[in-house]
Amino acid sequence: MAMLMRISFLATPSKPPSSFSDSATIYQKPTPSPSRFHWSASSRRRAGILAMADGPVPTVLVTGAGGRTGQIVYKKLKERSDQFVARGLVRTAESKEKIGGADDVFMGDIRNAESIIPAIEGIDALIILTSAVPKMKPGFDPSKGERPEFYFEDESYPEQVDWIGQKNQIDAAKSVGVKQIVLVGSMGGTDINHPLNSIGNGKILIWKRKAEQYLADSGVPYTIIRAGGLQDKDGGVRELLVGKDDELLKTETRTIARVDVAEVCIQALQFEEAKFKAFDLASKPEGTGTPTTDFKALFSQITTRF
Ligand SMILES: NC(=O)c1ccc[n+]([C@@H]2O[C@H](COP(=O)([O-])OP(=O)(O)OC[C@H]3O[C@@H](n4cnc5c(N)ncnc54)[C@H](OP(=O)(O)O)[C@@H]3O)[C@@H](O)[C@H]2O)c1
Repeated sequence: MAMLMRISFLATPSKPPSSFSDSATIYQKPTPSPSRFHWSASSRRRAGILAMADGPVPTVLVTGAGGRTGQIVYKKLKERSDQFVARGLVRTAESKEKIGGADDVFMGDIRNAESIIPAIEGIDALIILTSAVPKMKPGFDPSKGERPEFYFEDESYPEQVDWIGQKNQIDAAKSVGVKQIVLVGSMGGTDINHPLNSIGNGKILIWKRKAEQYLADSGVPYTIIRAGGLQDKDGGVRELLVGKDDELLKTETRTIARVDVAEVCIQALQFEEAKFKAFDLASKPEGTGTPTTDFKALFSQITTRF
């Protein structure tokens, strides 16, 4: 069986991966760090725009709920049950079990539009955290200084997952009248020659960008979060940075904790300032700057619709 590897997105923005250490991180069993954001129920209710004071609590589906960021979002939604009814979509029974196996976790494959209908029916908002995942070809020996090679499994190329799969989700969500779709994408999409596009010949950033454009053109209120390199670190302890057009990639601040991305996904549902916006997201190193707690102010800084 091929060794599972996860590409460390955006670790080397200006040159192709040349070694084990700068191109990939070994897949680890997800161990999400607890968020350090503490929002009281009342302040969250005040901030909520999806959850109207006298209306029903909105149902929010997160797809890729077994993934490393998706499972943090799912957990946070469950923890805020005064504010959201959580739902998750995973691909396998194994992933469902991994996140607790509750009845609110649906199984489906985003490449198959019909299979996701039960999960989508009745939702008010959708958070898309699915992505094609390249695998490393077997036989790679980092001790010999070799370059790892990656591939996508048949029918699991970015074209199928990041384009057709995201399009299927957007179409299904639109057909049930969702009030907002949050899509997590990646920085790097302005450069068609970005090294990530050559991995497994998948053109991953190009297909992700196409899905982002489709969402922006859909008419559904949207928030497109183009994350920097994702890290499994504590959340709520760094100042978050928003940007546009991959400008952050040219700086030293181009990474972000998965927990922080998860929090931004949920906060985006709570502020009008996050709607019809697309932005890059990274953070300052811990210990510099002021940890972000005012998300309305963060979203207000964003001026870009795409
Ligand atoms: N890694 C980085 O540094 C980085 C940087 C910037 C942006 N991003 C983006 O940020 C997002 C979150 O990244 P992550 O590392 O947290 O994600 P991840 O752990 O790779 O999770 C991806 C999820 O997509 C699911 N998926 C794949 N194909 C599917 C299909 N056909 N049907 C249903 N589900 C499917 C996977 O399900 P299974 O568990 O069943 O495989 C997995 O749960 C992704 O869009 C990623 O591209 C990543």
